[in-house]
Amino acid sequence: MSSFDAPTVIRIKRDGAALPDAAIDWVIDAYTRGAVADEQMSALLMAIFLRGMTTPEIARWTAAMVNSGERLDFTDLRRDGKPLALVDKHSTGGVGDKITIPLVPVVMACGGAVPQAAGRGLGHTGGTLDKLESIPGFTAELPKGQIRQQLSGIGAAIFAAGELAPADRKIYALRDVTATTESLPLIASSVMSKKIAEGARALVLDTKVGSGAFLKTEQEARDLARTMVDLGAEHGLATRALLTDMSAPLGRAVGNAVEVVESLEVLAGGGPPDVVELTLALAAEMLDAAGLDGVDPAQTLRDGSAMDAFGALVTAQGGDWDAKLAERLPVGPHTETITAPRDGTMESIDAMAVGLAVWRLGAGRSLPGERVQSGAGLHIHRRIGEPVSAGEPLFTLYTETPERFEPAMAELDGGWVVGATASPPRPLIIDRITSGD
Ligand code: URA
Repeated sequence: MSSFDAPTVIRIKRDGAALPDAAIDWVIDAYTRGAVADEQMSALLMAIFLRGMTTPEIARWTAAMVNSGERLDFTDLRRDGKPLALVDKHSTGGVGDKITIPLVPVVMACGGAVPQAAGRGLGHTGGTLDKLESIPGFTAELPKGQIRQQLSGIGAAIFAAGELAPADRKIYALRDVTATTESLPLIASSVMSKKIAEGARALVLDTKVGSGAFLKTEQEARDLARTMVDLGAEHGLATRALLTDMSAPLGRAVGNAVEVVESLEVLAGGGPPDVVELTLALAAEMLDAAGLDGVDPAQTLRDGSAMDAFGALVTAQGGDWDAKLAERLPVGPHTETITAPRDGTMESIDAMAVGLAVWRLGAGRSLPGERVQSGAGLHIHRRIGEPVSAGEPLFTLYTETPERFEPAMAELDGGWVVGATASPPRPLIIDRITSGD
């Protein structure tokens, strides 16, 4: 008979005290087994959201989440007789953040091996799995044997976490629909439990800062990055982080299929400069962390090897791949356009407003397990700093269900400004945090 019960654990946190280690171990295990109800975990998550957690509590909560499932190990795998350079990246969540899609093939083409446990959309931010599943036939439900085969054969697998950190799978889905996403302890433990369990040897974190990030201020984002880097070190996962700007959306496309289309542009050697810059910066960090010196990630975008790697990845995961994939992706079918009210310059585009608009168009969930719309999304025709003429299109919105346009337009209202001058551009990469700092 356990000495804990859910109301007692909730009450401890509700009243602002630290949870004892044994209470954390018990509640994570009991929730994973179904012995704590969703409504009880929801109340505990809200108490954590409001009261926070100490550093030792976060460490214990993360370890309990890792222990809720299996921990993969690929150190026995070889390619050309050599151990794999196992390295991954994870973002803390942004708007238009499709970076994983071009980044993984770049790293594959440079000789890395990426075991990526990826997530679905969370709150106003998109999820890699929801985006990739807009490719006809693509599956992220990979058996362990297939992950191993892909890693040693083609150098990557992007998969739903499944039996890795199953506590996170349940808590993540609950946070998405209970307004408990924007919490440092919950983000840090969610990201790191999956990444510790997935079998990478090195990890690069893209920690977002700004209106479209879960944590808005630079100080909060720094604290999050530091917490995650330290959690990685405690579990033998060499972790480093970039702090990157998320005050405006990344690229011109936000949504599911539309972001895959934009990623294909990057893989073809084009695409928006900010998406290319961040892809290459993260690739350089991953290659360095994996000990792969002397390879130029930019070359893989120029010579087509990253595109070939993406084709191999999509094909291995059941996707219907050919050179015309972008034309077959399900964008739309209903569209609405917002036009410029006056001549001027695009002064600002708020990432949060765009993220919420795209969520309203059907790209994210408001109920657990809800089907997302592959076709939902938005195109930004004029980015910050670009000149605007009265009457020209600024944004095109896409959905499968046109009644969603009205609430989506309401989210965008006030979220962008055409003015006389644009504010000076913010640097995309703000800082770099390593375990030695
Ligand atoms: N990514 C995750 O895996 N979890 C979070 O909480 C946020 C981003």
